[in-house]
Amino acid sequence: MSQRAPLAPARSNARVPERWRKEVERILITEDQIARRVRQMSREIERDFAGREMAVVSLLNGTVMFLADLIRHLSVPLRLDFIGVSSYRLGTESADLVFTKELRLDVRGRDVLLVDDILDTGKTLSRVLDKVRALRPRRIKTCVLLNKAARRVEDVKTDYVGFEIPDFFVVGYGLDFGERYRNLPFVGVLHPRVYQTACPWIDSAETKKVKGRGKTSSPISPLSR
Ligand code: IMP
Ligand code: MG
Repeated sequence: MSQRAPLAPARSNARVPERWRKEVERILITEDQIARRVRQMSREIERDFAGREMAVVSLLNGTVMFLADLIRHLSVPLRLDFIGVSSYRLGTESADLVFTKELRLDVRGRDVLLVDDILDTGKTLSRVLDKVRALRPRRIKTCVLLNKAARRVEDVKTDYVGFEIPDFFVVGYGLDFGERYRNLPFVGVLHPRVYQTACPWIDSAETKKVKGRGKTSSPISPLSR
């Protein structure tokens, strides 16, 4: 079991690069802070899975960067596959999950590490956990980069958490809004103007989804919902 995850730094002096300043309000977790934490997580995972071949099951698309960094620090044998899951339907939350890619890897009797980008209400991971459990693995450990505990609806066990974060809508390091911002090397707070005003370049379903998440615009009043 992992130790308690660090809180995302309350204030970071890092400046949002000029190019993103209109859309990203501030940097919540810098590239260096992520890199350091991901290395620590890899060490913990390596220790817990020692002597067993792991099956890493990662959720698309948000885990792209996190997964790539995490597994390159794992010097244990592993096999890797993905589950594609989307919640881009008209609903405001992830209740309307759509599986876009099924797991092909045989995980029966295996030690599974299930990786996701962020745990929010917990609905996604809880559905995916049910699905993977049905395949009868030996054990499943869950690993997420970010945890927004304030928004939890479903009780999901987390074994490895990168950072605990307040209730902000965040983007970068794989996390998106309307499939954008995944390429940012840091985790930043999306500027409310991006989802509060009609953005012609972002489809309305996505805007509605984030609006439904509550007012998360103030950087100094976290957990407001
Ligand atoms: P949950 O089912 O509510 O736990 O939501 C999990 C999924 O919603 C994640 O895998 C993300 O794709 C997305 N999500 C939740 N919060 C955020 C956020 O702050 N930024 C970007 N995506 C998010
Ligand atoms: Mg997403």
